[in-house]
Amino acid sequence: MSRERIVVLGASGETGRLVVAALAERGFAVVAAGRSRTRTEAALGDRAADVELAELDLTEPGRVRALLAGASTVVTAIGPFDALGRVVLEAALDAGADYVDTTAEQPFVAWARSTQHDRAVATGVTVVPGAGAAGAPGDLLVALAGEHVDGPCEVHVAYAFPQGLWRTSSAGTRRSLATLLGAPVLASVEGRLVEERLAEHRRLAWFPRPVGPRHAAAVPGLEPLSVPDHRPDARLVRTYLSLSTPGSESLQFLGNVARWQPARERLRSLLGPAPGRSRGGSAADREGARWACVAEVASDTTVGRAWAYGTGPHTLTAASVTTVVERLVAGTVPAGVVAPSLVGPPGKLLDRIGATTDLRWGRAVSERPTGPRR
Ligand SMILES: NC(=O)c1ccc[n+]([C@@H]2O[C@H](COP(=O)([O-])OP(=O)(O)OC[C@H]3O[C@@H](n4cnc5c(N)ncnc54)[C@H](OP(=O)(O)O)[C@@H]3O)[C@@H](O)[C@H]2O)c1
Repeated sequence: MSRERIVVLGASGETGRLVVAALAERGFAVVAAGRSRTRTEAALGDRAADVELAELDLTEPGRVRALLAGASTVVTAIGPFDALGRVVLEAALDAGADYVDTTAEQPFVAWARSTQHDRAVATGVTVVPGAGAAGAPGDLLVALAGEHVDGPCEVHVAYAFPQGLWRTSSAGTRRSLATLLGAPVLASVEGRLVEERLAEHRRLAWFPRPVGPRHAAAVPGLEPLSVPDHRPDARLVRTYLSLSTPGSESLQFLGNVARWQPARERLRSLLGPAPGRSRGGSAADREGARWACVAEVASDTTVGRAWAYGTGPHTLTAASVTTVVERLVAGTVPAGVVAPSLVGPPGKLLDRIGATTDLRWGRAVSERPTGPRR
């Protein structure tokens, strides 16, 4: 049993409570921090007895620093991260604590990488943003798909939520997704981050059965930010979401409308429920929600594909975050803001996540057909 002190922020939330339970299950000493002790206790149920409870509101920076002093690792599940995440990451670095989060917000991770990496290296702290369901699997699958693909390549990562991402999202996830409307979509092109428009690029993504091949539209994912850490020869890295053609058209339309500031604010408040108001899908819907992810790494001669699938993106997020924490505690991960694939051998990480969830993964490599391309 480890006696590391792991502080989890947002422990009363849908994701935070699952993270607390998964960490406690693996024997960590957990401090579960929520805005209200009563709400956190209620959210944790029987688990509350196994952890230390703390109260914390991010609007009180002094208390954030006091709570994080003495923490070996900070895990945060408080979103939207672009509004509420910066203070936590900065406080973790001040405290010299490793940092993991559940964000899927590209602007926040871009900020963390561009402004906090050097400081993390200087203080010997490891920062792993985007260790949840929308981030970690894609990055790990790219590493696995590309293992036998040498030289410059294109990388395409696609996610599918067959019952509908929106329908099975929690209120907190909806709030975070709403903040992405109108934000630029970054792709990595020839080693530089390039702004594109939401759903502007489309492709057919080869999801594993039973999902099968599906149309997918480009979205602001975390892979364009993380993949160049371990695949510097990638000429292109883009993230996609499986959507029908009308769905892609609607998303592109919404993205274009949201470029206009007043419309953006209106759309965000319509789509993202106000804090404290639950307008997300039910917990049972989320638990049974299927997800799949496929990564394709293609050079001029070879195509590698790796895929993973399972149910319950929030459970997956908790297991993935916990697996990252285990590696951080083992002390084998480099300092800096790092990609999930730098946390440990990607296959072993996915196997570890699959040991406590129904995640399954596979991969294949094939020669690229030669002859004139259309
Ligand atoms: N990468 C992925 O696939 C993935 C998966 C799941 C979640 N996420 C992300 O994780 C985040 C949380 O999602 P969720 O579904 O767990 O949301 P949630 O159920 O609404 O929980 C949010 C948590 O943040 C706390 N919080 C909000 N404002 C705070 C403040 N000012 N100070 C302290 N605590 C505050 C809430 O406390 P109260 O209870 O007091 O309101 C609650 O504990 C979102 O950004 C979501 O997108 C990502």
